[in-house]
Amino acid sequence: MRTYFVRTFGCQMNKHDSERIAGMLETQLGLTQAPSPETADVVVFNTCAVREGAEERLRGQVSSLKAAKTGPNPDVIIAVGGCIAQRDGEMLLSYLPHVDIVFGTHNVGALPSLITSASETRAATVQVLAEGTEFASDLPSIREHTWHAWVPITVGCNNFCTYCIVPYVRGKERSRSFDDIVAEAERLVADGVVEITLLGQNVNSYGRDLYGESRFPDVLRRVAQTGVRRLRFVTSHPKDLSDETIAVMASTPQVCHSLHLPVQSGSNRILSAMHRRYTSEAYLALVERLYTAIPDLALSTDVIVGFPGETDADFEETLDLVRHARFDQAFTFLYSPREGTPAAQLKNTVSRNVMQKRFDRLVAIVQSLAYAKNQRYLGTVQEILIEGVSRRDPGVITGRTDSNKVVHAPIPAGESAEALAGTFARVAIDEAQTWFLWGHFEG
Ligand code: SAH
Ligand code: SF4
Ligand code: F3S
Repeated sequence: MRTYFVRTFGCQMNKHDSERIAGMLETQLGLTQAPSPETADVVVFNTCAVREGAEERLRGQVSSLKAAKTGPNPDVIIAVGGCIAQRDGEMLLSYLPHVDIVFGTHNVGALPSLITSASETRAATVQVLAEGTEFASDLPSIREHTWHAWVPITVGCNNFCTYCIVPYVRGKERSRSFDDIVAEAERLVADGVVEITLLGQNVNSYGRDLYGESRFPDVLRRVAQTGVRRLRFVTSHPKDLSDETIAVMASTPQVCHSLHLPVQSGSNRILSAMHRRYTSEAYLALVERLYTAIPDLALSTDVIVGFPGETDADFEETLDLVRHARFDQAFTFLYSPREGTPAAQLKNTVSRNVMQKRFDRLVAIVQSLAYAKNQRYLGTVQEILIEGVSRRDPGVITGRTDSNKVVHAPIPAGESAEALAGTFARVAIDEAQTWFLWGHFEG
């Protein structure tokens, strides 16, 4: 065993777990990263169960490795972790029989020992715990970028939105201690991290289990004092985003002016069936408070199209809400029934055809709003954090504004994208497209 490859499906929490997995495989097992899964000795799939699509991709990819296992790479160890592994446990082996290890979301830390024993015994091992005690952050990590770090502040979710599998595969909400969060942030800043993203399924309820009330604004204030240049957080639940948090966002320079605030639907009937616990009026009032306090805020959201029982009228209300909220970006999803969730029992499903038509209309509106909102950047100078070379053009860097807008700019003469990654630059914006801005380095 010499090399590994980790494939991540799913949300930031999974990406963060993957960084910990890479860290453990390197420091505890001495493995190095392989360029592709086909050539690796250990392949880890960190899975997502939130929608059907991610599951199909997993099956396709594991099956393609089967060819390697029965051919040129018979000793490859295939491990499946994450939310599908947590949900299916041993059952997973019945539909993916060439998998060697199944490990759950609560025992990421056990993976190195599971790999060692699998390589000795060559027998399939399943270890999925019902509940967790560990925080993956206490494990070593190989970060995807040296300059950015994810810091989980809560794991799990207590909200039980009726469509959502997350509470079943990530467990009850648990907050990490305030001191641990601050200590990790301080370590990261000392290590050269300039941007931290605080993570939780609902960061706004941070601390309720530990302190009896949310202490999220305190976390923002305190982590901002570590010297980190940019501080972001995902995800916020509209029912829990407090005015105090808005005030801290507005008054703390390190806290970025971008916010992801999933709305899911604009129909009160559907919001109630989803168990979201706010109305479209309350959501829009919150959005206005945000824009008043933070006029340059970039706002993004998630919308589910075709929840059971959604009528044309409900959907029109969603379009209205989206227009009123003036989103910079919306992640749009076709409703996907998840076995074991209450919504999966509902009979009045929306036909695929109707769902798709609604989806296409929504996407067109989202795009035109995004384009319109980006125009306000034209002619401005933005401080960007450079992420690296553009995927499309080796002569161009990609970076992000404080408001999380993607910016492309030609690399100045004598500079290299590698050296610039993780540094800040001032870029004058010459062109504003739907999903990116284009500019040139100033000075
Ligand atoms: N805790 C976060 C992330 C949840 S999953 C939050 O509350 O926003 C990310 C998004 O996936 C959700 O916001 C929702 O829009 C979408 N989603 C979740 N379950 C879904 C389902 N069964 N079908 C379609 N979209 C779903
Ligand atoms: Fe799922 Fe709702 Fe929890 Fe988000 S808040 S993870 S959508 S149950
Ligand atoms: Fe997916 Fe699990 Fe995240 S289901 S969205 S990877 S918590």
